[in-house]
Amino acid sequence: MSFGELARTGVSLIVLPGSEVQVIDTIAYRNDFEAGLYCHLGDGRAFTLLEFNWNVELYPPEAPQLVSWLRDRGTVPIVAHPERHGFFRDDPTRLRMLVRAGAWLQVTVDSLLGYHGPAPRSAADELLGSYREALLASDAHNLRRCSGLSAGYACVRDRFGTKRAEDLRLRAEEVLSLLIDPPDSYSQPHGD
Ligand SMILES: [Fe+2]
Repeated sequence: MSFGELARTGVSLIVLPGSEVQVIDTIAYRNDFEAGLYCHLGDGRAFTLLEFNWNVELYPPEAPQLVSWLRDRGTVPIVAHPERHGFFRDDPTRLRMLVRAGAWLQVTVDSLLGYHGPAPRSAADELLGSYREALLASDAHNLRRCSGLSAGYACVRDRFGTKRAEDLRLRAEEVLSLLIDPPDSYSQPHGD
């Protein structure tokens, strides 16, 4: 259904820009960030989706310092799908250091449902049980990967209870309201 058809049938839909930004070289990342080259969530700078390469050899050891650097600039980095990275599962301290530095985590619904395999599924449970600063996402790349957020919240409700599911939903709503209606200090892209 097109946006025009949705509008005609009274379905209000807001589409915001944003993408995962993969970091391999933190110096290059900082330069590009300062130059305003990235499209952060909602194209503001309150939240950015930080992605790491699947290859552990490309994981920057100074990632916690990068997280602190972003927080100092008023940007909350959200680590995309940490439960799917073997190097976070094998070495949980690596992720703990990012969270201690101020990162939030974004867990993919399909991981929770087991569609990315048993290891991401149990890691997703582990992360949602251990870290308060988490969000759920569909990460729907295509029609084969769109289980939907409702399925994710239902799953969290079953495994962790209503309160945890509600915490996650409220956090997502807070993020969205900041993206849709940003305070003045967040509305200018960085580097301008
Ligand atoms: Fe990704």
